[in-house]
Amino acid sequence: MRFDVITLFPELFGPFLQHGINRRAFASGQVDVRLWPLRDYAEGNYRRVDDRPFGGGPGMVMLADPLARCWQAVREQRQAEGAPPAPTVLFSPLGRRMDHALVAREAQGPGAILVCGRYEGIDQRFIDQCVDVQISLGDFVLSGGEVAAMAWLDAVARLQPGVLNDAGSHQQDSFNPALDGLLDCPHYTRPEVWQGPRGQAAVPPVLLSGHHGQIEQWRRRERLSLSARLRPELIDQARAAGRLSPDDER
Ligand code: ADE
Repeated sequence: MRFDVITLFPELFGPFLQHGINRRAFASGQVDVRLWPLRDYAEGNYRRVDDRPFGGGPGMVMLADPLARCWQAVREQRQAEGAPPAPTVLFSPLGRRMDHALVAREAQGPGAILVCGRYEGIDQRFIDQCVDVQISLGDFVLSGGEVAAMAWLDAVARLQPGVLNDAGSHQQDSFNPALDGLLDCPHYTRPEVWQGPRGQAAVPPVLLSGHHGQIEQWRRRERLSLSARLRPELIDQARAAGRLSPDDER
């Protein structure tokens, strides 16, 4: 899969692509990420990428022209290199909220052209003519789409086969349908008893018991009770999908 990222700040992506668990996916090209510096497509001595909004008001608006030129160059290169057709995604607070279902669908797809907005907005005419889908990280405003694009690439990359050391470990993640969309249970590692700043804390004994059945039962109960307490709508969704057993309901 191939992602082409249109951004004013390509240098922000360097450390993200070169470090961490996903690095292998990016380095091997399994998730092929190409960065497109938007300023290279701006004209004039000042390489201007934004201007004041018509109608007045604070802030600057990104010009449609450099965006469209860059977008066109991306599309031409994708076509010349035989990349499959892919949607253009704009990161914006107006978009659909990112969630597991959206990421899982994207992880099976051909990739996308990702547009990172900056400043107060983007000329609507570029959005109308070139953008297929808008995606939001949440109900708050970021100063640009780069952080959202990295969140998107990270979530998609870790779902690719072989990217995580422990194959299938993402199926143990919160929100994964393999766990009925519930929150993940708490995790513990050594030492068995930890001397913390607020006192001694022991690992739940069942995790040291070696009884896999009991451990799984404990983890299921923890997922259910955490979800019921923190995200009750996840319990409602699992129940509506017929994913809760009579045992779960006790
Ligand atoms: N750009 C600005 N705010 C954003 C948000 N909430 N999600 C994604 N991209 C954004």
